[in-house]
Amino acid sequence: MKGYGVTIAGIGRYAPAGILSNGDLEKLVETSDEWIVQRTGMRRRHIASPEQATSDIAIPAAKAALEATGRQPSDVDCVIVATATPDYLFPATACIVASALGMTGKPAFDISIACSGFIYGMTTAASLIRAGAFKSVLLIGAETLSKIVDYTDRSTCVLFGDGAGAALFERSDEDCFLGSELGADGADPTVLYLRGGGSRLPFNTNGKADRSAGFVQMQGQAVFKFAVNMMAQSSRNALARADLKPEDADFLVPHQANARIIDATVKMLKLPPSKCVTNIQEYGNTSSASIPLALCDAVADGRIQPGNVVVFTAFGGGLSWGAVAWRWGSARVGKLPQENIEPERPAHIVPA
Ligand SMILES: CC(C)(COP(=O)(O)OP(=O)(O)OC[C@H]1O[C@@H](n2cnc3c(N)ncnc32)[C@H](O)[C@@H]1OP(=O)(O)O)[C@@H](O)C(=O)NCCC(=O)NCCS
Repeated sequence: MKGYGVTIAGIGRYAPAGILSNGDLEKLVETSDEWIVQRTGMRRRHIASPEQATSDIAIPAAKAALEATGRQPSDVDCVIVATATPDYLFPATACIVASALGMTGKPAFDISIACSGFIYGMTTAASLIRAGAFKSVLLIGAETLSKIVDYTDRSTCVLFGDGAGAALFERSDEDCFLGSELGADGADPTVLYLRGGGSRLPFNTNGKADRSAGFVQMQGQAVFKFAVNMMAQSSRNALARADLKPEDADFLVPHQANARIIDATVKMLKLPPSKCVTNIQEYGNTSSASIPLALCDAVADGRIQPGNVVVFTAFGGGLSWGAVAWRWGSARVGKLPQENIEPERPAHIVPA
């Protein structure tokens, strides 16, 4: 039996007002603007305030996606939050977001697959709609990575930022989901991980956990090589599910982890750089929020047009990876709340 069609009806985003520049990082660790720009492509990152948890930035992004479609919260059947920085280990951040939006009683759950979260979320949301389980699913990628970054460790603190992006998936006559490929390899979880707080090293260890247990740790070069290979391979495979090749893609929207990773992926896929959407200079690596943040930019400025074939791809902790090939419909972007917010110095990270 053929399933239902699915489209993305609206998208939205939110980035907190705190701005951490490369110049600010020069005051915190031995680094330089030149090193950061050359090695990563990043210039600044948005940073949540000490009071802002992940749900607090997920909610405005979700509202923007709903506003773009004119839908009410009551029209949404299910809420999914992709995040590596939930408000709590449990309950799921999605439950908090759904209730804050007035959707108490609706199914809500988190996807925990680090930076691959939005790709896994897109596949889950689309599949739930295609199978007929729901008519409408709100997917939000939201992160407050600044809460788990050690601002004395130059190998990680320059990379990460905070933000949120949302997409409302709806049943439709046209099926925009072309294909997806997901993968994971957990043989060595320590390549990229947060050591403390889980069942292997619980918080209640009576002092056995050292300071680094609360911060993201990473083997940068190992992640780099893996990232390029898996983003290229999964993009090819997702497109192949619809008998398409990389050259058939109008746009690539990759996870924004490092400009050099993105450039190498584009080369491997033999795409012209103009087909690749990047905004890493503005946000840094926002994990599961990076793809919807980049997507919002490219739809808002008119690059991505109805009918375009768009490939989304990501990699992250797990290790994990994936890609989704999508035919873009007529989704609009909700108003961008952060444009009305005055940038602030994140005084809890860079004291005056
Ligand atoms: C982290 C990353 C930017 C480092 O870049 P790199 O070119 O691999 O740099 P290396 O790790 O080889 O380090 C080169 C030198 O720069 C130094 N360095 C590292 N971070 C630095 C910083 N912020 N400023 C200045 N120097 C720095 C290192 O100490 C090293 O010095 P040494 O040669 O004296 O030992 C890069 O490996 C990367 O992006 N990896 C993927 C990470 C990622 O995507 N993580 C998230 C996944 S979702």
